[in-house]
Amino acid sequence: MKRNIIITGGAGFIGSHVVRLFVNKYPDYRIINVDKLTYAGNLANLVDIEDKPNYTFVKADICDYDKMLELMRQYDVDGVIHLAAESHVDRSIKDPFTFARTNVMGTLSLLQAAKVYWDSKPEKYEGKRFYHISTDEVYGALELTHPEGLEPPFTTKASSGQHHEAYGEEFFLETTKYNPHSPYSASKASSDHFVRAYHDTYGLPTIVTNCSNNYGPYQFPEKLIPLFINNIRHRKPLPVYGKGENVRDWLFVEDHARAIDQIFHEGKVAETYNIGGFNEWKNIDIIRVVINTVDRLLGRKEGEDLDLITFVTDRAGHDMRYAIDSRKLQAELGWEPSLQFEEGIERTVRWYLDNQEWMDRITSGEYEKYYEDMYKNR
Ligand code: NAD
Ligand code: TYD
Repeated sequence: MKRNIIITGGAGFIGSHVVRLFVNKYPDYRIINVDKLTYAGNLANLVDIEDKPNYTFVKADICDYDKMLELMRQYDVDGVIHLAAESHVDRSIKDPFTFARTNVMGTLSLLQAAKVYWDSKPEKYEGKRFYHISTDEVYGALELTHPEGLEPPFTTKASSGQHHEAYGEEFFLETTKYNPHSPYSASKASSDHFVRAYHDTYGLPTIVTNCSNNYGPYQFPEKLIPLFINNIRHRKPLPVYGKGENVRDWLFVEDHARAIDQIFHEGKVAETYNIGGFNEWKNIDIIRVVINTVDRLLGRKEGEDLDLITFVTDRAGHDMRYAIDSRKLQAELGWEPSLQFEEGIERTVRWYLDNQEWMDRITSGEYEKYYEDMYKNR
């Protein structure tokens, strides 16, 4: 094999898209998917590639340092793409310890395993890569200075054609000071610092990327878009936090996976790249688009389900606005989002409606009870 790469969290939402892309695109790479299969990990996300000869699944906890070192040795690993994490802000508010354990200690355990194994090789860090996937949430929150929307300062493929606003003049840059507010973003910020410390202290060849909110197939239905698609289908209430005015910057998951591929191969060691498509949406606006799309695809009257919108108690410490400036990545590596947002949402809604069995398996049983308790307590 030309390369042996561990991808952590490959049974999760974004990880499964990255594993699929690498396994299909690089038949001469061995891809080792290391995943603990928490509630968010689902091997059903990977049935189409599970029998490929260059794919291996290992069920393991990234916090298990001895196991991580053993895997580095067993597969002579030369690259790590690290996505495994606890990823849901609402869960982090209820259970911060699990987030510190997996996101901080798990990342540290992987860093140390890579360092110890690569230190033992004659060529040391030559040709090696430790790529850590992070989030824009570490930068904190931007203000909503223009609630009615500004003219777009940048145009991209994702937003061209359709005029799309920005809701403030400020954007997150790679140089923006970290200012996390939730236990989730605090744990991701901490892990980012450890990754950079391993470069600065030991010279480990690291890269960090910070991406905006992803959407697309295989996302666990506790996150806004798949949760709402499923609730609309079943005509259940749509719990909108606060007034629905918070702004998120949405990127189609396959565009993120393509960026990860390109940065893993062409990105500069020790650099940080922001990934996003200049695609800001107020929650309430995106929810209306999702309702209209589901209604249309189900043959209902468009907008018929708008009355499912239910304003509920706001999330504690709810960040107002996220907006990524990804011009560095566009200028240095030529990456751009490939999809118009309208097309991405249409494909996403269609996928969830066509894969109801995937959804039903997750939303029945234990998760259903968890979600009902969560909703009742709001
Ligand atoms: P996800 O919750 O869907 O998947 C996480 C995966 O990690 C699951 O398969 C889970 O089983 C696995 N995992 C959790 N704890 C583990 C442990 N201790 N050991 C091994 N595996 C473990 O998450 P996602 O949305 O796909 O996010 C993936 C990464 O991308 C995360 O690091 C997240 O912070 C980052 N990110 C996500 C978004 C987004 O919008 N979802 C945006 C930017 C960055
Ligand atoms: P989410 O998908 O949890 O992503 P994140 O918190 O990482 O941005 O939420 C996206 C936005 O939608 C966020 O502003 C919170 C809001 N939201 C709701 O209004 N209702 C919900 O039920 C959920 C899950 C999220």
